[in-house]
Amino acid sequence: MSAVRIDGKAMALAIREEIAAKVAGLKARGVTPGLAVILVGDDPASEIYVRNKGIACEKAGMHSETIRLPQETTQRQLEAEIDRLNRDPAIDGILVQLPLPRHLDERAALSAILPEKDVDGFHPVNAGRLLAGEPTVVPCTPKGAMRLIRSTGVETDGKEAVVVGRSNIVGKPMALLLLQAGCTVTVCHSRTRDLGAVTRRADILVSAVGKAGVIRGDMVKPGAVVIDVGINRVEGKVTGDAAFDEVSEVAGWLTPVPGGVGPMTIAMLLENTLEAAEKRL
Ligand code: GUN
Repeated sequence: MSAVRIDGKAMALAIREEIAAKVAGLKARGVTPGLAVILVGDDPASEIYVRNKGIACEKAGMHSETIRLPQETTQRQLEAEIDRLNRDPAIDGILVQLPLPRHLDERAALSAILPEKDVDGFHPVNAGRLLAGEPTVVPCTPKGAMRLIRSTGVETDGKEAVVVGRSNIVGKPMALLLLQAGCTVTVCHSRTRDLGAVTRRADILVSAVGKAGVIRGDMVKPGAVVIDVGINRVEGKVTGDAAFDEVSEVAGWLTPVPGGVGPMTIAMLLENTLEAAEKRL
């Protein structure tokens, strides 16, 4: 058997076209959605992500600002910048690119963003709303992963879902979204004893570990939906967490890397920014 490849790139492109049309409508009513991205330091991977976010914004007709701060930026300087953007009426969404340099307090920085401008959904108020099942800003990567799962047409209600990874950015919000979708959810992490024994139960398997090849073919239930959130660089090539060829032989559906979850993350960021701007109207 060979898994159906879930084309995140095509889906993201279609969503971005719909967003561009809605942005044009908002602009006609005098509102241009604006996104500000703050990048501290010169991490090369973050530099690429931030550049792609800016380009996507502009292509959708949104206003985009990238604020590049030096590695030695202090907490006070970072929060002053966030405060300035909180008060800037041209900015609907603020994103602080993670990871921050080690000397900075990530939690304090994320908490400094106004919850209504927090397009990442990382502010504790928004994260708490997600936990409580209230309407909120949903973090971009898990939101995009959910759309990819939905695109398969596979019913989620009553299914076994396994999330590998317990980060605040992906693993934890992903588990909550799957729970909301009626799944029985298990979260695995670095301390999990027999990872394969757990993942083999999954009808829906989401891997957000960041280690190439950790998900082998024999760890996957035949016919499962496998969503690969990993972005790993191996010998200059970008690969996911799944050993693609092996997993492809067993799974029913599988997202490629690149071209799966990554493009959807950017599309969801545009969607969250658009929704923030619509609330401004
Ligand atoms: N670093 C890796 N993924 C993300 C993300 O979704 N948002 C932010 N702000 N930083 C990230």
